[in-house]
Amino acid sequence: MAYSEKVMDHFANPRNVGEIENADGIGEVGNSKCGDIMKMYIRVENNIIVDVKFKTFGCGAAIATSSMATELIKGKSIDDALKLTNKAVMEALDGLPPVKVHCSVLAEQAIKAAVSDYYTKLGIDPEPIVGHIHTEDCEHGCCNA
Ligand code: FES
Repeated sequence: MAYSEKVMDHFANPRNVGEIENADGIGEVGNSKCGDIMKMYIRVENNIIVDVKFKTFGCGAAIATSSMATELIKGKSIDDALKLTNKAVMEALDGLPPVKVHCSVLAEQAIKAAVSDYYTKLGIDPEPIVGHIHTEDCEHGCCNA
């Protein structure tokens, strides 16, 4: 399966690349199989994600999915951002080849990690709100889907 035009567009012209200084939340996730890393920064005001930026040291599909994921959560409430699934990101990109599905999981998890960090900084336990985050060190064996 070839990459869709949308994937190529977001890979060639990724949106929201960079860092946010003094971000309210920073999430970093990695995939142990391919070694790719994604870092996501969020700025939160009144429960709304007013700004989001990312850096991805990874493959083209990881860049495209992070780009699309940031576009989908910008201006949304934290609750809505947490509901964003990798499937929704893939659909917004008109699909990904099956071997690249795990790259979109990285984007979903990076958002959750950033929100987790945001709550942790506020002194709130993030796990009941955000749930389990699949990281490189995850022992559940569920992270390399
Ligand atoms: Fe690692 Fe795509 S191959 S994130």
